[in-house]
Amino acid sequence: MKALVLAGGKGTRLRPLTHTSAKQLVPVANKPVLFYGLEAIRDAGITEVGIVVGATGEEVRAAVGDGSDFGLAVTYLPQDAPLGLAHCVLIAREFLADDPFVMYLGDNFLVGGITGLVEAFGRGRYDAQILLTPVAEPQYYGVAELGPRGEIQALQEKPEHPRSNLAIVGVYTFSPAVHDAVRAIKPSARGELEITDAIQWLVDNGYGVHSHLVSGYWKDTGRLQDILECNRIVLEAIEPDIAGTIDALSETSGRVVVEAGAVVENSVLRGPLVIGADTKIVSSYVGPFTSIGRGCELRNAEIEYSIVLDGSSVDGVSRIAHSLIGRNVQVSRAAGVANTHELMVGDHSRIQVKV
Ligand code: TTP
Repeated sequence: MKALVLAGGKGTRLRPLTHTSAKQLVPVANKPVLFYGLEAIRDAGITEVGIVVGATGEEVRAAVGDGSDFGLAVTYLPQDAPLGLAHCVLIAREFLADDPFVMYLGDNFLVGGITGLVEAFGRGRYDAQILLTPVAEPQYYGVAELGPRGEIQALQEKPEHPRSNLAIVGVYTFSPAVHDAVRAIKPSARGELEITDAIQWLVDNGYGVHSHLVSGYWKDTGRLQDILECNRIVLEAIEPDIAGTIDALSETSGRVVVEAGAVVENSVLRGPLVIGADTKIVSSYVGPFTSIGRGCELRNAEIEYSIVLDGSSVDGVSRIAHSLIGRNVQVSRAAGVANTHELMVGDHSRIQVKV
């Protein structure tokens, strides 16, 4: 069994972060979301992994390397343009050869791993196996319609009028039959080769396609609120660990991780939260479900339910919540005219200010 991990794509829903960075490397509890998937693949006993990369390929390569840190052997598969999930299977034909494989969307987060899924695939001799989970807004997902005996009847990609609330989770297993399917289908109205169309082709042509309901937690981290929610879930179970220093004037409660070299002075830390290595927190409040990256600085600041990436600073601003702050960003109090906001922000940024 091999694994095909998709780490290309456009990432339009996470702009401006994705103008400069791979969305699969956005950290959840200070670890890139992609790493959780690679660990799940390794834990399922798979070692040969092909990673599809696009415009942000260099960054993904720098982060994952040859995979040996994960106990994996990684082959990179460059995709010239993000032409769809089924297109990724098409370009991976040589790497996959005639082996069965698990396809894992690099921005998906699945609590509980994929070992059960991989084992069920081995036992069931299916040609495709998909995972389904009920969601509140099925129109944003691939959706499956099941028949009276739970068999798959139809699949639709982001349908305007969904016929069920069962979203297709971004982890699939396939036999080599899928290669015929991805060659047979045509691009959709949005110009992509859709994996839902390939699976529908398998259903229509009498191949064995099986679905399971996911029992554990799953999120597609393509949107801000989903990343923050994932961060919350991971932090809730984080093992407390204080490797940095917290002075006597500071107060901590809940699950708190302070990485090596981090310094906390005269501050309140209410976990669950993580403070990255070499970060400085001075006279500040860091509230629940917050991940502060490495080399950051918070002074006279208040922040909760947020993610701050490496090298950023917040000075004299309170209270920041439900926020994702990129790398090397400076957030500070404006001097001068009262009630004035001074901004220099990148394209496609989103700022919500209370006035
Ligand atoms: P999506 O989140 O469906 O697509 P996207 O990355 O283009 O994002 P957005 O809708 O915000 O513009 O992709 C799921 C995963 O598959 C993600 O990790 C990116 C990856 N992917 C590829 O590697 N190649 C592709 O052609 C596509 C469409 C996605």
